[in-house]
Amino acid sequence: MNRRQFLSGGGLAAAAAISSAGCLARPSSPDKEYFVNWARGILNVSWPLSGEDLRLRVIGDTHFTYFDSRDKEYADNYARMSGFGKNLPEEHLPGEAGQEFFEQAISTAAKDNIDAIILVGDILSFPSIANVEYAKKSLDVCGVPWMYIAGNHDWHFEGLEGSSDALRKTWVAKRLSPLYPEGANPMMYSKVVKGVRIVAIDNSTYLISREQVDFWKAEASKGDPIILAMHIPLYVEACGSQYYCGSPKWGAATDGIWEIERRPRWAEKATDETFEFRDAVLSTPNLVGVFTGHIHHAISMRGNGQNMFSVADCRAKRRHLDVTVQKATR
Ligand SMILES: [Fe+2]
Repeated sequence: MNRRQFLSGGGLAAAAAISSAGCLARPSSPDKEYFVNWARGILNVSWPLSGEDLRLRVIGDTHFTYFDSRDKEYADNYARMSGFGKNLPEEHLPGEAGQEFFEQAISTAAKDNIDAIILVGDILSFPSIANVEYAKKSLDVCGVPWMYIAGNHDWHFEGLEGSSDALRKTWVAKRLSPLYPEGANPMMYSKVVKGVRIVAIDNSTYLISREQVDFWKAEASKGDPIILAMHIPLYVEACGSQYYCGSPKWGAATDGIWEIERRPRWAEKATDETFEFRDAVLSTPNLVGVFTGHIHHAISMRGNGQNMFSVADCRAKRRHLDVTVQKATR
């Protein structure tokens, strides 16, 4: 399966774990209930909270395509992605549409009583100065705090030399740093909002490091309700694709798009730490949910009884999800 087929839905057609609307209660935890309505872009979670309700707006894959003469030396490196959506099936909206949705989603956040905006990556299609400036300027005036974590396109100018790790490190430091909260480690950081711990982890190369596994375990062990935000969804068997973090199918043999994206081919297989991370997240008892983007579908998935949500749905012209974590009443 190529990326185009994958993005157009073939990669998820067999995903029995997907549901479009309805309750996703965990049978073993009657005081923890989930209701999702993708048509309206809302998710309500009842949880034994000690404090007030928490409202998050999760936004992913807006794929901005702004550039100007300041990046003319990289013109060849953003040429393909500056036409994002135009060479894909109709439901994949071009970058300009993502910019409009972003503008709308963040300009209404304060009025909608959102406590924090969570940006789960591929907000940009490439790290141009103009893209970063646009995102930062819009976020600065929206009046709501935000957390950002990179996706695989945010830091990628196609065709540059170097490993994915090295390119990410370079371009995150060179261009993306204004998008992170001050002092945050771009690879992993957390923030507690209204008693809920929100952990952002960069898995935009599909791989997780030892440091990130240990960070997750340390954060999860603090015991408060915890949310994980990252770009690439965790693998669940029902989805069966290589385009997930911790997929046993991920590897050089299934990487069909490295030449199109002009990047290094994936390694032979994912690291042990990546599998360990997936297992650790899915066995975290205080996990409220995992929020991701990347696959361009708004879907719920369950793995090991845990609920995970991918927020962007280009078909429904929706690239965000409003999440309310509210105090369970029983
Ligand atoms: Fe992505």
